[in-house]
Amino acid sequence: MNRIYADFNATTPMGRACQEGIEAAIRLWGNPSSSHAHGRQANEIIEESRRLVAAAAQVNPTELVFTSGGSEANALALLGSYFATQSTFRLLTLSVEHSSVLDTARFLENQGVPVDHIPVGIQGSIDLEQFRKQVDQFRPSLVSVMAANNETGVIFPLKEIFQICRERKIVLHTDAVQAFGKLPPAQWNFCDLVTLTGHKIFGPKGIGALVVKKGVPMVATHFGGAQEIKRRGGTENVLGILGFGKACQELPTPEELKHLAHLRDRFEKGLLETLTGVHLNGADVPRIPNTSSIRFEGISSEVLLGALDLEGISVSAGSACSSGSITPSHVLLAMGLGKQAAKESLRFSWGKTTTPEEIDTVLQVVVKHVHRIQERKRRT
Ligand SMILES: Cc1ncc(COP(=O)(O)O)c(C=O)c1O
Repeated sequence: MNRIYADFNATTPMGRACQEGIEAAIRLWGNPSSSHAHGRQANEIIEESRRLVAAAAQVNPTELVFTSGGSEANALALLGSYFATQSTFRLLTLSVEHSSVLDTARFLENQGVPVDHIPVGIQGSIDLEQFRKQVDQFRPSLVSVMAANNETGVIFPLKEIFQICRERKIVLHTDAVQAFGKLPPAQWNFCDLVTLTGHKIFGPKGIGALVVKKGVPMVATHFGGAQEIKRRGGTENVLGILGFGKACQELPTPEELKHLAHLRDRFEKGLLETLTGVHLNGADVPRIPNTSSIRFEGISSEVLLGALDLEGISVSAGSACSSGSITPSHVLLAMGLGKQAAKESLRFSWGKTTTPEEIDTVLQVVVKHVHRIQERKRRT
């Protein structure tokens, strides 16, 4: 059975340039810190990739710190800022951030550090006036707001947020993991700290970066080596870095992204026109072009996900399974959905390899199973 993958926000397969680049370099094993020829060769790979990633993100290569992924980059942004400023540190972050931001924030809070959260409305976006008031009330030293949400695809108004922060000399961090390769860099690369990862852009897993703009207070949280200009100790993941750079050369073009948005719209329109009790989360606010978070009223996401899986379709429930029970998504709860409603949503996330035929097949299969489940419920 040819499976259909509709979970590109979870991860992506490696693209051709990335795979070929890694295959070609697999026998290079020098330590990039060694000054002999083996080491220099490995170091050249890193520096070439640094240029490629920086070019794709349109930032200065000297501002890029390679990390083990987006989670570590988020932790470094928050913890590195905290340790650099300590007594003057106060964090304001968004209630729908990725768990790597929220859990780091919780850790800081448990150490007695002041942390506040920005609420979102029913559409999953923020009210800028309310945000401005919160900033003036709490006077944070660091604001962390993601560029786009991984579950709903909702895009946050970073330009306006940056303006508010700049006027008050507040450092702005953005987790751009889901925006990189889906939104033009000019929509997020002006932030003081920017988180990126490789495996959402057809690159390898276990590699990411934090962009640290010149002059932003930041100290290392990994020690024992002078790597990354002493900003992140530890022997570099040379092949991961190489693959990340190669993936950056194959980011979708604006035309491909437009096509993706068209496919997503066709899918959403098909569902909304054919089925009853279907709701699009974040329907009325700007979203990245590949993500549809859909609530199927009265239908457990676990049941629908399982049915689709058996049909060869991979999607995400947008909720974590822990101790055998489904925990409702913190993103949907923060948007005001009740516990039950939050367990009725599926996330479909498409990629540059998605075809119109795949969209139509998924649409057809979802409609079939929703009708089947609704019919069974009517009879009982
Ligand atoms: C918005 C967002 N931030 C951070 C991460 C974590 O990135 P990584 O898997 O590279 O640690 C993810 C991964 O799902 C994400 O979607």
